Amino acid sequence: MKVGKVLISAEDISSKLEEMGKAISEDYRGKNLLMVGVLKGAFIVMADLARHVDLPVEFDFMAVSSYGAATQTSGVVRILKDLDQEIADRHVLIVEDIIDSGLTLNYLLKSLRVRRPASLEVAALLVKEGIQRVPLEVRYSGFRIGPDFVIGYGLDYAGRYRNLPYVALMEEGDG
Ligand code: IMP
Ligand code: MG
Repeated sequence: MKVGKVLISAEDISSKLEEMGKAISEDYRGKNLLMVGVLKGAFIVMADLARHVDLPVEFDFMAVSSYGAATQTSGVVRILKDLDQEIADRHVLIVEDIIDSGLTLNYLLKSLRVRRPASLEVAALLVKEGIQRVPLEVRYSGFRIGPDFVIGYGLDYAGRYRNLPYVALMEEGDG
């Protein structure tokens, strides 16, 4: 497999994240925001989105695993790294790279909700249209895309391509 057609350019991602960051800044004005990045995929989105958030925001990360090296969701979610801090009475914004089946996020939301945060919302750069297997509310979403497997901007294929500055499709072939 190799890098295929560019689906979303670096420029388009940048202006979308700026837009999302402005909305987040307005909505959380005067509140103590904790942004929670879901590793590994969200590390790039988190860094770039956060620089458009004009608030004294705090950060934490979780690591979960839902895929092996394959491109199919397994439905099995494991928490590999939990939050460092308590989130009771905190305004929590989960930052995701992509929502595919929604199983990962659904599991995360459930396990965080029982910790009684003041609020719990989701920001995702990409949402795959119409294939969520569970109903989800994504408060801040960047782009709706088709069902194809994509790479770049944090998204990997077998651990690679996360550093591409754009989102691309995969293509058959070497490299
Ligand atoms: P879900 O549980 O099916 O929503 O999958 C969520 C996770 O699967 C994401 O956080 C990604 O790590 C991974 N994933 C889903 N679709 C893609 C894709 O098209 N490219 C790369 N990773 C993906
Ligand atoms: Mg992945």
